[in-house]
Amino acid sequence: MFNILDFIELKRDGHRHSSEDLHYFVKSVLSGQIPDYQISAWLMAAFIRGMDDEELRDFTSALAFSGDVFRLSAGKRAVDKHSTGGVGDKTTLIAAPLAASCGLPVAKLSGCALGFTGGTVDKLKSIPGMNMHLDTDQFIRQIDEIGIAISGHSLHLAPAEGKFYALRDVTGTVPSLPLIASSIVSKKIAGGADAFVFDVKCGNGAFMKTEGQARALCAALISLSAAMAKRSMCVISDMEQPLGRWVGNSVEVLEALQVLSGAGPSDTRELSATIAAEMLMAGGITDNIDSASMIVAGKLDDKSALRKFAEMISCQGGDPSVCGDPESILPRAAHEKIVTAPREGVIGRMDALTIGIAARALGGGRTRGDDKIDQSVGIGVLKKIGDAVSNGEPIFEIRYNRDEQLNSALPHLISAFSVAEFAEKRPLILDRVTSYDR
Ligand code: URA
Repeated sequence: MFNILDFIELKRDGHRHSSEDLHYFVKSVLSGQIPDYQISAWLMAAFIRGMDDEELRDFTSALAFSGDVFRLSAGKRAVDKHSTGGVGDKTTLIAAPLAASCGLPVAKLSGCALGFTGGTVDKLKSIPGMNMHLDTDQFIRQIDEIGIAISGHSLHLAPAEGKFYALRDVTGTVPSLPLIASSIVSKKIAGGADAFVFDVKCGNGAFMKTEGQARALCAALISLSAAMAKRSMCVISDMEQPLGRWVGNSVEVLEALQVLSGAGPSDTRELSATIAAEMLMAGGITDNIDSASMIVAGKLDDKSALRKFAEMISCQGGDPSVCGDPESILPRAAHEKIVTAPREGVIGRMDALTIGIAARALGGGRTRGDDKIDQSVGIGVLKKIGDAVSNGEPIFEIRYNRDEQLNSALPHLISAFSVAEFAEKRPLILDRVTSYDR
């Protein structure tokens, strides 16, 4: 007979759970039989004590099958990608239409902003009319008809994971390897894709702060996916500084459209193209990474990926003319403020975590679940680690609407960077970890 107090104490004392108990626990959480304080106590015990491979598999499977599981049409081998969370990370907006323009079905389930990290759902909502909560039929039909859908999670998809996630966010239990791995893989399983590419962020603006932690998360994501009969690989990418030039919502859509039009910052293009090429490999379009990279570069350069993005926007009720004239369609904040370098030198630090916190303070993210996001605000990161600067040269461009939000973001931004005598530029892609031959 399952007893919740015994269950919490078992994990608190460092013992393992049976498969039966884990499934029963998740089912009871979903049906509302266990109060939040007991779920939270267990989360903290699991955060401190961890889970072994078998427990992790059972917990992930209980979360994944707690609601609907999308079944894509027969014969479609769809791929999904997931980032472990970062600042300025707009790669989904580029990599997903890019992979789809190469003929690979992309079934992408995305999240909202979380803590200091941004969310694809909030970014795409900057496009007027865009529906980011597709129902099951539309999601599947869209993949059949145009080869791509990007949607937020619905109430019916891995609902138990939604419950655990919301509690983790407010109980200090987010940065736990087994809790992150089960949270991500359960949602991917529910989304119905056959293969996954994970972008595991590493650095101060990520949940995994060190390369060792990022590598351990890669191993867990890959082995969990394999246990669920899914093919997967991980790109480990730097999150010591924000990705690309802009942090926010509409500003990140703008940057993504620039990259899809053949311009934009080189780091955003490099990471997005790498992920798209890995999606082609994971989806079996090619088994050679050089040819995957060439196909992807061709579709970026001939604007096929931009056209695919416009097609998807149109199918989801958005205004596709944003792809031709983004500046006149995307919301833009009313005011601007420039932060400048206090002296000559080289940028030594460009702290992604602090910039993410500043973007949230401007209104670009949430501090409470019911906060309304201001899609129009953003931070332009004009210099990166290793760039030379002169005294008074612009470092950040802040776009804001209300003085009190500027006043709360500004101290963060002033402390987010330092000017040094010398600093090396940072590599963006730290490694790729795969479980299949290439
Ligand atoms: N992304 C998720 O979906 N879950 C986590 O726990 C962390 C990042």
